[in-house]
Amino acid sequence: MIKTAIIGASGYSGEELIRILASHPSCEISIITSRQYAGEPIGTVFPRFSWMDLKFSKPDIEEIKKVADVVFLALPHGLAAEYAEPLFNAGLKVIDISADFRVRDTEIYKKYYNVDHPAPKLLKSAVYGLPELYRDDIKKSSLIACAGCYPTTILLPSVPLLKAGIVSAEDIVVSSMSGVTGAGRKVDLPYIFPEVNESLRAYAVNGHRHLSEIEQELACAAGKDVKINFLPHLVPVNRGINSTIIFKPGPNFKQGAVLETLENAYIDEFFVKVLPCGTLSDTKHVTGTNFCEIGHAYDEHTDKVIITSTIDNLTKGASGQAVQCMNILCGVNETEGLI
Ligand SMILES: NC(=O)c1ccc[n+]([C@@H]2O[C@H](COP(=O)([O-])OP(=O)(O)OC[C@H]3O[C@@H](n4cnc5c(N)ncnc54)[C@H](OP(=O)(O)O)[C@@H]3O)[C@@H](O)[C@H]2O)c1
Repeated sequence: MIKTAIIGASGYSGEELIRILASHPSCEISIITSRQYAGEPIGTVFPRFSWMDLKFSKPDIEEIKKVADVVFLALPHGLAAEYAEPLFNAGLKVIDISADFRVRDTEIYKKYYNVDHPAPKLLKSAVYGLPELYRDDIKKSSLIACAGCYPTTILLPSVPLLKAGIVSAEDIVVSSMSGVTGAGRKVDLPYIFPEVNESLRAYAVNGHRHLSEIEQELACAAGKDVKINFLPHLVPVNRGINSTIIFKPGPNFKQGAVLETLENAYIDEFFVKVLPCGTLSDTKHVTGTNFCEIGHAYDEHTDKVIITSTIDNLTKGASGQAVQCMNILCGVNETEGLI
């Protein structure tokens, strides 16, 4: 059995990790950490897990080194790297759900996260944790930087289409909508029920943090710098993200090429569902699962390719993706614990 520790287990992505790992046939959960609930049985914080014989403990790196093979970091960015460094150096496999190792350029990290990178020497050991694009690298790595939630929805359809020249890398516009768990499990006025309920609002339209990794990965696919308009919105649902991506057709665009390219890219990918032309994705189809659903249409009126891409932010956008990465790097079936 793979022994796992979850640092930051009292948050939303920590809770989702517990849910997934609790029924994972090749794993056991050895440690769950929380500062505020240290000493409490898991059932007092998450009653649905009261059947599990686990208590929260304060994060203790020496203790984790003794008992865990794989550590999940479900912590705020900046802090995650501080835990990653000693645990990685001690030979543990580290799967980070935060943004700390996603951006390869420390200057860009500083620009978007407003702090110096906390562990720059470790960056060269990190692999971007989007299994459908980086599976072979993930197999060989012990430090996985799980792709962000918005970036997962945007990169899965965009990368194969840009690589094949089906869409243009110029003037890309993405409008994304996220459920409120994306903001974490904290009491914060803009995210309490009366503020969020019956409200639809855009935010961070001129420089959301996720732009750093989205543009990094789009540039790799396009072979040149890419700048996009990224328009995130908060919507009054608990879970789920939909991104609608508007592309100009690329040099190799022709009728049917979008579907053919996406189907070829994902024919063997269990967690990516490509819908027929004209059928658009829906958060209802993916909530509580590790699937990404991709729809598309061609708008003759404006000559634009329109993609919709939908995930559960806590599963394929965070903890499910993290477990998928763990399955790959530990050599167990990639779908274990996730279906
Ligand atoms: N929510 C999402 O949809 C989502 C999706 C993708 C990625 N992520 C990323 O995943 C990470 C966790 O997100 P989340 O939404 O699960 O956050 P969250 O609900 O706010 O939980 C944060 C966790 O970190 C712990 N923590 C906070 N400060 C700490 C400190 N100084 N020392 C030790 N533990 C500390 C908290 O526990 P205690 O306060 O009890 O110690 C809690 O368990 C973030 O980096 C986020 O950007 C989130």
